[in-house]
Amino acid sequence: MRIIRAKDYEDMSKKAAIILGAQVAMKPDSVLGLATGSSPVGMYQQLIAWNQAGDLDFSQVKSVNLDEYFGLTAQNDQSYAYFMYHNLFKGINIDLKNTHLPDGTNPDIAAECARYDAVIDSMGGVDLQVLGIGGNGHIAFNEPADCFKMGTHCVTLTQKTIEANARFFDRIEDVPTKAYTMGVGSIMKAKKILMVVNGEAKAQAMLDSFFGDITPQVQASILQMHNDCVVVADEAALKLVDEKFPGAVK
Ligand code: F6R
Repeated sequence: MRIIRAKDYEDMSKKAAIILGAQVAMKPDSVLGLATGSSPVGMYQQLIAWNQAGDLDFSQVKSVNLDEYFGLTAQNDQSYAYFMYHNLFKGINIDLKNTHLPDGTNPDIAAECARYDAVIDSMGGVDLQVLGIGGNGHIAFNEPADCFKMGTHCVTLTQKTIEANARFFDRIEDVPTKAYTMGVGSIMKAKKILMVVNGEAKAQAMLDSFFGDITPQVQASILQMHNDCVVVADEAALKLVDEKFPGAVK
């Protein structure tokens, strides 16, 4: 596990884009695992800029996203399908038929979870998985729990996550209460993991996840067991790590 220090959000985004860009340059037909949320947006903007300048080609890339709200269509502006289209896919030359998310409109939970696991398997494994982290240490929508889940499943979101996500909705009552999410087992199978973390609201999660015990109560802590995990974190996110373990992150 490697933690890379960034000055601020912009610096984090550039450093992370360099790592993801290098993956695509080295393996043009890479399978990318992608995340939504505020953390990767700056990185996506940098990738769009490189693609539009003709410096990075996504034409052979395939993608699988971590999660999708239950009950939202891809046309709903709060869905993760909509987010991915507007924050990345429409700006790069990826073939949309090679991009995949769980189908939030499928009410048959068992069927949708099996379908999405089959999609992930059919790609022959994720080369690089992008992750953000929740303030409670969640990855994708794997919330604090008594165990780590392997495959795709449908979760009931915690009140804390609903409140954190409410900033994207007009009213908190509009935030969906359930979501389809990749399991931690699928995330751990990715060949490389790239996590982006910024802001003081993530400082406790950084400390607990990477300097604490490995426990399903802090789902990201399992990443300590991954053999190629890079975390790009800004100064604010490293605040508590720096206080408790000075010098641990160069
Ligand atoms: C997004 C996802 C979530 C976010 C996390 C952090 O697809 O799976 O786990 O990565 O909630 O969200 P932001 O980046 O908005 O702070």
